[in-house]
Amino acid sequence: DKGNHRHFMLKEIYEQPVVVAQTLRSYIRPVEQMVALPDMAFDLAAVERVVIVACGTASYVGMIGKYWIERFARLPVEVDVASEFRYRDPVLPPGTLGVVVSQSGETADTLAALRHMKESGVTTAGIINVPTSSMAREVDLLLSTHAGPEIGVASTKAFTCQLAVMAALSVNLARAKGRLDAEQERAVVRALIAAPETISAALAYDEAIAGMAGTIAGARDVLYLGRGPEYPMALEGALKLKEISYIHAEGYASGEMKHGPIALIDEAVPLIVLAPSGPLFDKTVSNMQEAQARGAQVVLISDAAGIAQAGENTIATIEMPEVHPLIAPLVYAVPVQLLAYHVAVAKGTDVDQPRNLAKSVTVE
Ligand code: M6R
Repeated sequence: DKGNHRHFMLKEIYEQPVVVAQTLRSYIRPVEQMVALPDMAFDLAAVERVVIVACGTASYVGMIGKYWIERFARLPVEVDVASEFRYRDPVLPPGTLGVVVSQSGETADTLAALRHMKESGVTTAGIINVPTSSMAREVDLLLSTHAGPEIGVASTKAFTCQLAVMAALSVNLARAKGRLDAEQERAVVRALIAAPETISAALAYDEAIAGMAGTIAGARDVLYLGRGPEYPMALEGALKLKEISYIHAEGYASGEMKHGPIALIDEAVPLIVLAPSGPLFDKTVSNMQEAQARGAQVVLISDAAGIAQAGENTIATIEMPEVHPLIAPLVYAVPVQLLAYHVAVAKGTDVDQPRNLAKSVTVE
């Protein structure tokens, strides 16, 4: 049932504050301001490195998880798409924690990667939305997302719930490794507790985004830029747009622009820049300005301070609330999803059932 919404995708975008809160409830003790994973049969303190494997949107959760686990737990993290991981003879020494991320829990390549890890003697965890799925049954530690059924082929609420669980896993690993004291943990947990409300605040820009979608709908190509955890968000933005509007889109790490993609820039290629205020802002904006000097039509997604500083000469700005850097990806997911959605609606494509795609990819 789509409720009052025109498409399942829009309904699912709007469910995010509720389902992220619901998911976090299983992983946070609000009174103690601590993260708590379910009981497990192995010791997180013994983990020496983490390997995260997934496909599509779920693989971007892995990439964001790499920033978090490295920062908080100081453990080396490797991330790969399942279809590459399983065929490349990965090195999996003792002490490896293998993590799969999947909405359906049935994606053929991710399932095969999980089995490969288990056969190699690796302890596994799965961030999974369908609790009865094959992956949910086979992982050593099931970390469920409570997004509820996701109908739209374009993943939205499963993605932000996966990020919430990944954040909790990162913090728990950090504590187990003795790399985060109670005070630091409380600060991070407070940021997580604030996420649902901040996602709601981001949803308030829906109309503004709908209003500017027409400027993107006519484009043949679109580029997305971000740095740090916003780099995988740029990839996610580009994937969402491709999937449902059929516009060719690519995401790049901001600093990679000048190593090739800047040659594509002209007035006809909109450039969507994801740049929350913070330590990475100035660098990202300087990459954006290099593109502007070559005629790029920029849409800047930032907070009020960022827009005040760098919003000039853009074709549009999308203002996000100010956020703790940890939850920025959960919040910046919203404008990225809404932009893809409204561009697809403007183009009249089949938003919930895009051509050539299936909700669950059970063939290799
Ligand atoms: O069910 P899974 O999370 O394993 O699916 C992985 C990908 O097929 C999926 O995220 C796909 O990229 C989505 N259609 C993206 O919107």
